[in-house]
Amino acid sequence: MSKQRVSRRQFLNYTLTGVGGFMGAAMIMPMVRFALDPVLQAKGAGDYIATDKKIADITSEPTRVDFSFEQQDAWYTSTVTNTAWVYKNENGEIVALSPVCKHLGCTVDWNTDKSNPNQFFCACHYGRYTKDGKNVPGTPPLGPLDVYEHTEKDGYLYLGATKPNPVGKGA
Ligand code: FES
Repeated sequence: MSKQRVSRRQFLNYTLTGVGGFMGAAMIMPMVRFALDPVLQAKGAGDYIATDKKIADITSEPTRVDFSFEQQDAWYTSTVTNTAWVYKNENGEIVALSPVCKHLGCTVDWNTDKSNPNQFFCACHYGRYTKDGKNVPGTPPLGPLDVYEHTEKDGYLYLGATKPNPVGKGA
């Protein structure tokens, strides 16, 4: 039976390699964690944002509703303000339309084109949409305004992500 002895040099090698590896990992792990942090954060997708609009105050006339939220962009947090055009349709259902024009992204207004009343109007290139957000054929936008997901909490309107408008596009 052979006796394997560890020399002093080998012992030092093993010990220093182990301690060095441990210290290296201890230094690198926080950096890896820092680099990946935004990826590891739970996403707030599907969350609704509170507005100061009371459900009871929503009428059949589209009203501009501004709402703000904190946006995390990597390590930078900023406050973003969005807008929705909100009204109740003939069935009493809430409709919340995005104001972003489907032509080149300008902001639409309600009922500001005197020759075409009760429509959404985009002053950039005279784009028009009917009240339900459908683009008026013959004007530049090729699709309807998006709609916001929405819900109600404690009597107030909460808005979520935008999605394609179910009305479909104008002819
Ligand atoms: S951006 Fe609205 S019509 Fe062109």
